[in-house]
Amino acid sequence: MNRGSFNTRLGFILAASGSAVGLGNIWKFPFEVSNGGGAAFLIMYLMFCFILCFPVIVSEIAIGRNTKKNAIGAFEKMGKRNWNFIGKMGVLCGVLILSFYTIVAGWVLGYVVEMVSGNFSIADNFGVYVNDTGNVLLYSVLFMITTAFIVSKGVEEGIEKAAKILMPSLIIIIIILIVYALTLPNSIDGIIFYLVPDFSQINLTVAGNALGQAFFSLSLGMGMLITYGSYIDEKNNIINSAALITLTDVGIAFLAGLIIFPFVFSSGIETQGGPGLIFQVFPKIFEDLGPLTGTVIGSTFFILLSFAAITSTVSLLEVPVSYLVDEYKVERKFSVWIVAFIILLIGIPSALSQGKVAYFSEFITYFGHDKPIDFMQFIIDVSNDTLLPFGGFLITIYVSFVWKKRNLSDEISKGNPSYKGSLVEKYINFSITYICPLILGSIFILTFLNKFFGI
Ligand code: PHE
Repeated sequence: MNRGSFNTRLGFILAASGSAVGLGNIWKFPFEVSNGGGAAFLIMYLMFCFILCFPVIVSEIAIGRNTKKNAIGAFEKMGKRNWNFIGKMGVLCGVLILSFYTIVAGWVLGYVVEMVSGNFSIADNFGVYVNDTGNVLLYSVLFMITTAFIVSKGVEEGIEKAAKILMPSLIIIIIILIVYALTLPNSIDGIIFYLVPDFSQINLTVAGNALGQAFFSLSLGMGMLITYGSYIDEKNNIINSAALITLTDVGIAFLAGLIIFPFVFSSGIETQGGPGLIFQVFPKIFEDLGPLTGTVIGSTFFILLSFAAITSTVSLLEVPVSYLVDEYKVERKFSVWIVAFIILLIGIPSALSQGKVAYFSEFITYFGHDKPIDFMQFIIDVSNDTLLPFGGFLITIYVSFVWKKRNLSDEISKGNPSYKGSLVEKYINFSITYICPLILGSIFILTFLNKFFGI
């Protein structure tokens, strides 16, 4: 059976970067930065991406290309059936992420419509807006249908084509918005907050969040890159591709900060820095720009977010779909729509958890904490901040001790003949054997105890 494949190297890089660049970069990154002491968080985040995540990216792509299988099947194809739980955890994690991601993407899509119709007062009514469940679900379903439509077209005609159109458009929109943001009064204060570090803010929680954010933003630790890596050929230079994907993701998160902080500081609005940052503060900022400019800049901004989100939801959906297609020979179109439907159902409690239904809004209180958190936050804590870094940790253990570094090097060398004996090889091998397991493992354990048990 033809599994499909990326047609060009650029197509793969755009699709994988498209997966990486998402709401994580534009919605989540800015408020993590402002909670984590501005540039102090930024520096830690950059270090994690390049030192800890890069070897994991390379490993995932290599596993995928070596086996030409989905996230679970890959381990079986390598004869390590016992280790396929890493893939199973990844697929589960992807399903959980997509379930809440679709709801937030629904808010974003809805906001495009609000901005186009000049309804800036939505900023004050965000709490009411997210609890208009019928409306939110309508947009979330629309978003999921678009995602499913793209994925159902297959790797080349769907995923690759969409990335080739959406990613360049996204970059153009970002540049326009940065230029505009930098002309706003007081924008420089925003830049200073963003780029001058306050190291006193760094603590374990911030480090754990930075690690979770790095994994989430790079779509790492859940088999997305195993899946996409299974669609590339031996000529592909994995190291270069991994470097380009990392740089694009980090670059766009960084650039998004150059839009967000000037906007926020020029408006003089006190940021509460939470998940509501862009939804509650931005429409006010757009309103101050006057009806015409506000509508244009406001809708452009939320269109940017929608574009970023859709290339991510596409990759999240592809992971379970690819598993069903490979392992159970389910027809692609059929599995796409079934999985999309199930994930929408799983997302409903998240949609209801913003105040609508008390049970989901005060879902759970972790040990040692006194405030309950809502269902969506619970899913975010479990998937982003726990399962992803844990998945990354397991992948490094798997590659260095089970699959063996020699095989990793062989796989990478196929598209990169000078790899063996190079400094990059030494670095990757050292890192996946010592640095990654050690640091990922310890931050994971500490964050886990801290988050869920208040220790
Ligand atoms: N990286 C995406 C973002 O930043 C989210 C994502 C996570 C996508 C995991 C796929 C897999 O928004």
